[in-house]
Amino acid sequence: MRHLLSAADFSHDEAVAMLDLAEDMAEVNDREVKKLPTLRGKTVVNLFFEDSTRTRISFELAAKRLSADVINFAAKGSSVSKGESLKDTAQTLEAMGADAIVLRHSSSGSAFRLAHTDWVDSSIINAGDGSHEHPTQALLDAMTIRQSLNQDVRGKDLAGVRVLIVGDISHSRVARSNLLLLTTLGAEVHVCGPATLAPSSLVGKERVHYLLDEAIRQVQPDVVMMLRVQQERMTASFFPTEREYSRVWGLNKSRLSALDDKTIVLHPGPMNRGLEIDAASADSKNSKVLHQVRNGVSVRMAVLYSLLSGEKENA
Ligand code: CP
Repeated sequence: MRHLLSAADFSHDEAVAMLDLAEDMAEVNDREVKKLPTLRGKTVVNLFFEDSTRTRISFELAAKRLSADVINFAAKGSSVSKGESLKDTAQTLEAMGADAIVLRHSSSGSAFRLAHTDWVDSSIINAGDGSHEHPTQALLDAMTIRQSLNQDVRGKDLAGVRVLIVGDISHSRVARSNLLLLTTLGAEVHVCGPATLAPSSLVGKERVHYLLDEAIRQVQPDVVMMLRVQQERMTASFFPTEREYSRVWGLNKSRLSALDDKTIVLHPGPMNRGLEIDAASADSKNSKVLHQVRNGVSVRMAVLYSLLSGEKENA
């Protein structure tokens, strides 16, 4: 693999192998000296045109733990404010010696475009492109789900696991990448949210639900993945009020008690507490939100290692 652009880049066996590699990296992260010499001499550029806490910092940490050099670029405060394009920015950073570019951008398709033009030779990793995809988030979610179900995770997939993704499906790159990857791994993935926030490609499908209480009763999920309401991507009014959204689609104490004790709750962060998830649910024993964050470092180490440690294949 030269680039990671989409969760669809993985076959079943490749996805399981990547999760196994992330488990190896997790063992490194549990050591006192959390460092491997593997990517010494390589340079990773975090090219972030959108804000991020988890993804940017975990890619930085992942690269450093593999002994790579890291350049952190944030559009705010850069020459992007003077009108410099994605192409010129990426070429400028590659001229300084980048081997991999981790790209977050508000335009869907931006990572694909950077990878499939002759603009740069670096490996491109999609760290979130608009409302399109966020493949490393799907990998860390799959890793968290697999760990919650198995003592001995290596070699296992998610066959038969029932996952309910709840909320703003239309604007969510997390939902799109998870639908692809979790399905590849054999999970039964359902979505639930307001009809106005369901993509037209899913409307009318069997695994699409519009009321959370009903969806919980019907699906009996092993995993409930709450999505952030992405106000910044909404160009219209998709639900009457925040109070109404929270009443019908929010995870709260009463809905949490309707779930099986073993059901885990995921959220990619940042959470809008009081909107899509209440504090009791976010901080409950079912919540694996901080496990997701921890696994993010291991997954990104695995991805950087896979892309940069061997010979580059042709795109
Ligand atoms: N989950 C996620 O992408 O979080 P950040 O926006 O903080 O990177």
